[in-house]
Amino acid sequence: MSRLIVAVDGPSGSGKSSVCRAAAKTVGAAYLDTGAMYRAATWYCLDQDVDLDDEDAVALAVESLPLCISTDPDHQVITVGETDVTAEIREARISEKVSEVATNRRARSLLIAAQRQLIDDAGFVVAEGRDITSVVAPDAQVRVLLTASAEARLRRRGLQMGGTQSEQDLKVQVLERDKKDSAASNFTEAADGVAVLDSSDLTLEETVEALVGRIQGAA
Ligand code: C5P
Repeated sequence: MSRLIVAVDGPSGSGKSSVCRAAAKTVGAAYLDTGAMYRAATWYCLDQDVDLDDEDAVALAVESLPLCISTDPDHQVITVGETDVTAEIREARISEKVSEVATNRRARSLLIAAQRQLIDDAGFVVAEGRDITSVVAPDAQVRVLLTASAEARLRRRGLQMGGTQSEQDLKVQVLERDKKDSAASNFTEAADGVAVLDSSDLTLEETVEALVGRIQGAA
């Protein structure tokens, strides 16, 4: 496959990461998790004791963020400087703060530029996030909004966290985060030309199959 860009957006708990990684593996594409980049930026700001209310300080920190993210769907490794943050960026302390970094305009435009470069370098790639279909790669050949009901999203995130979180904590991590994130991008409505894939009543395998079908149809 020469160049083909698959852009997938969706709210938290919609299953984007699992679906996109599996679809990328199936079709032999690279995989870009843009949420991991915002998470790594947040990890870095916290590590550097940056005041997240200070917009300039956050933007300056992201400007010097020594981020390295792999786009191999079989080997997801994210490092900041010498530190492997792959696991740590999934912790609740990051999920609770990430929107503060993601809604910083300068930080956002720096990360969007980095995402465009990674997509360009990869050539054949499944990229997922909140604004890929609309801002990062609006010219992608395949553009999908992956949705799921709030119940399904809360259930999935609960399972992902190993069943250790209270319902209230899950609501904060899923629904409250979506509310904050919607200040930076519109990922609840499909932009023109974006196909909606509702996974509420689909298994992971069925959702992957639906996405792979669209990719193969465009190839
Ligand atoms: O996808 P995930 O839940 O890991 O994303 C983490 C956070 O990164 C989101 O809550 C949002 O604040 C931010 N994000 C974003 N734009 C993207 C991807 C993620 O603002 N394209």
